[in-house]
Formats: sequence, C-alpha cells, structure tokens
Amino acid sequence: MAALSHTPGAPAPGDTRTPLCALDALPPVGQARGFDPAKSGRDTVFALRRSDGIRVYRNHCPHQGVPLEYRKDRFLSGDGQRILCYAHGAHFEADTGLCTDGPCRGMSLASLPLVIEDGWLYLAVAPDSPLLR
Ligand code: FES
Repeated sequence: MAALSHTPGAPAPGDTRTPLCALDALPPVGQARGFDPAKSGRDTVFALRRSDGIRVYRNHCPHQGVPLEYRKDRFLSGDGQRILCYAHGAHFEADTGLCTDGPCRGMSLASLPLVIEDGWLYLAVAPDSPLLR
C-alpha cells in the first residue's frame, strides 16, 4: 500500500475534493447527518447511508430553495425511508432524491458526487464550489 501524502480528511493542497467526515462518523441507515463544508454557518449538504451505499444531497428544496430539515440532522421520515422537506411536506426518495409527493412532485434534490478514500467520505467537488453554498 502506498504511503499517504496527506492526513485523511484534511484538505490537501490543490485538492478538488471536500472532506465531510470519517466513515464511522456517519450515522446508520435510517438517519442522516448535515454538513457545512463551505463554513457558511448552516448545513448546506447532508449525507445518509442506504443499503447499497452512501448518498449526499444539497440541502436545498427544489420547491422554494429552503433547507429541508426542521432541526439539526432531521432530514428523514420517522421510518428513515424518505427525505422530507419540513417547509411544505414534500417527500423524496432516499435512494434517488426524486420528489414523489408534495408541491415539487417530479423534481429532484441535487445529488452530489462523492469519493470514499482511506476511511473518509469526500465530496468530489472543490470546497469553494457554488454547489456547497
Ligand atoms: S420548500 Fe420544500 S416543500 Fe416547499
């Protein structure tokens, strides 16, 4: 195995990825965790585990562009199977981000590309990307 050129989870010079967290800091299936990778003072993305992997979405409802959660890390329905927007009650598929019920039915949350490396979850977008604001 090659030696690491930087500390896992720490931004590396010139890196176009954005570290989110160590994999073991992600909650189990049925829960989600918000992140503020742009240091904006609010969680602009959130991540959740599914049976086949991890999803990361922008915390931005396609209906009116507001954050989805009603309090820190509360993005999911009680059974953990759907993402909810607490502003007007839209329901989104956790696997795809597709809105299946509510005022933005047929629209989708923006899914963000991710990279898993050295036990860390990264977004495959630079920290200064507009996607993270
Ligand atoms: S802002 Fe999300 S459903 Fe209206």
